[in-house]
Amino acid sequence: MDDKIILAIDTSCDETSAAVTQGMKILSNIVWSQATQHAKFGGVMPSLAQRMHEERIDWVIERAITKSQVPRNKIGAIAVTAGPGLAIALGVGIRKAKELANEWQIPLLEINHLEGHVLSALVGEVTFPAVGLVVSGGHTELINIEKIGKYKIIAATQDDALGEALDKAARMLGLGYPGGAFLEKLANEGNPKAYPLPLPMAGREDKNSFSYSGLKTAFWRMTDSKQLNKQDTADMAASFQDMAFKHLTRVIATSIKNSPFPLLNLRGGSEGALLVGGGVSANVELRKRLRLLGKELGFRVHFPMNKKLCGDNAGMIGMAAGFKYQRGEYLAGENVEKADRKPRWKIDDVKYGSGNNL
Ligand code: KG4
Ligand code: ZN
Repeated sequence: MDDKIILAIDTSCDETSAAVTQGMKILSNIVWSQATQHAKFGGVMPSLAQRMHEERIDWVIERAITKSQVPRNKIGAIAVTAGPGLAIALGVGIRKAKELANEWQIPLLEINHLEGHVLSALVGEVTFPAVGLVVSGGHTELINIEKIGKYKIIAATQDDALGEALDKAARMLGLGYPGGAFLEKLANEGNPKAYPLPLPMAGREDKNSFSYSGLKTAFWRMTDSKQLNKQDTADMAASFQDMAFKHLTRVIATSIKNSPFPLLNLRGGSEGALLVGGGVSANVELRKRLRLLGKELGFRVHFPMNKKLCGDNAGMIGMAAGFKYQRGEYLAGENVEKADRKPRWKIDDVKYGSGNNL
């Protein structure tokens, strides 16, 4: 039987997105970014995000369907990000998804946004168990993927997310928002050894935690009240990025080496896999370092196929939904009404993982 054609929606943060997918195929993926509207606040304003999602949601859905060239009556299910994310922003997508599922009389799937990010790098040859890494503006998580749909968080940030830290550092250097990509560009022109910054949690990498707040504070002290010329700024950007990534890869290496259970499938000559997703996975320097780590520890690193799939997008939600549908974990009929936002939904929270079609 052919895979179901799914209309997927994501309104978890500051991108309004809709996609049409079939299995792992993304037939259309429309992303309307609000980033420039939030830029003047230096971060996402929830009420503004909600209003803009409401304004744009019908448009992105219509565009996604038209672009996919799938007739409306061939769409077999609706998928929506139910969490984690901003509650009032999630609400917009969920309301619309319920409305359409009821109107079109098709099932509804509640999808975890982080599962979307993890699976956005999935390709056919990956075998499980594998490791997932989400590096975005809101999350920094290392995840054991026992199989698709079964996850366990191995390490997470105890304060700022990596993307958030890069954004804050960029802001201190007077760059635009969100600053990760601007910082990367500037760092390419700089010397990463020019400014000594503290390596977060040095010697304590076995705590299964990432931490960026100390690095951020040290960076702030360094930039504060200094007159910086162009080269200084580039050197600082490179130094910050260098330490932030060094910390990330050290914790990943320690977590994988110290894991009490096998995280990678290395049986029968199989190549272990690290699946990386989230906005920061677009960073070329980070990709290089993760690939190097993979060489050292014996796993292959997979990244999303294109930039759009790194950041927030509904295509990844549709991909995750395709697998979830096969497992029968959808809401149908009257149960569609049970869909609800879960702003702090953890990827390994089994409560929402299975059986909710009953
Ligand atoms: O996944 P995403 O679009 O949204 C969240 O779910 O948070 O991630 C956004 C984050 C921002 O912090 C942004 O600065 C960062 O991803 N980012 C980058 C790059 N492109 C986006 N960070 C470093 N290098 C990049 N090229
Ligand atoms: Zn995201």
